[in-house]
Amino acid sequence: MTYRKLNRGDVVEFQRLRLFGLRESPAAFGSSFEESSVLSRQSFESMLDFSDADGAVQGAFDGGRLVGVGGLKRETRLKEKHKGIIWGLYVDPEFRNRGVAREIMQRLVEQARAMTDLVFVKLTVLASNEPAKRLYEKLDFIKFGCEPKALLIEGKLFDEDYMLLALEPEKSAGELAAAAGAARS
Ligand SMILES: CC(C)(COP(=O)(O)OP(=O)(O)OC[C@H]1O[C@@H](n2cnc3c(N)ncnc32)[C@H](O)[C@@H]1OP(=O)(O)O)[C@@H](O)C(=O)NCCC(=O)NCCS
Repeated sequence: MTYRKLNRGDVVEFQRLRLFGLRESPAAFGSSFEESSVLSRQSFESMLDFSDADGAVQGAFDGGRLVGVGGLKRETRLKEKHKGIIWGLYVDPEFRNRGVAREIMQRLVEQARAMTDLVFVKLTVLASNEPAKRLYEKLDFIKFGCEPKALLIEGKLFDEDYMLLALEPEKSAGELAAAAGAARS
């Protein structure tokens, strides 16, 4: 298995795996196969087009075949640029339970830590998606909320959990302590 950041040149494999995943695990994603399958090749290319300062899509390859993928992107609005979003984590069923998703997530978190002024990364996960939630918890993500009935898929409603990983807990704790000290003085 090889791991690397995807670029526009990987668009054919990325589009194939993304559409396969949306069809195979529809409840795992906010995006739908129906809407994504009619998107242009350029739309998929644009999902891979990031500067390192704003995120990345990481992929796992078995030879030339993309078998795992996950993305990180910085929020774009001025008041939200301190937040990163993890999106689209998916591993081909044939390659599950071998640590592929863990490696992809570790790479995304490593990159998030290297991104200037990023304070935390967050993600949404189906409340009933125990495999994914266990993975995120092992990587120190914590749940901070739940949106009831967040997704409507084939007539069924699903709750989603919100999770986040603080990127600089020591610094945040220090800043809080300093702020508390300033308030006392
Ligand atoms: C969730 C998913 C990405 C996990 O991928 P994977 O490569 O099989 O995961 P890994 O082998 O890296 O497992 C890492 C950890 O995840 C958890 N995990 C993975 N699969 C699990 C399962 N079937 N049951 C329980 N925990 C599981 C475990 O904590 C595991 O650590 P461990 O091996 O030390 O027990 C994969 O099942 C998938 O693509 N599912 C469909 C799409 C999806 O749900 N994406 C997440 C959207 S939020």
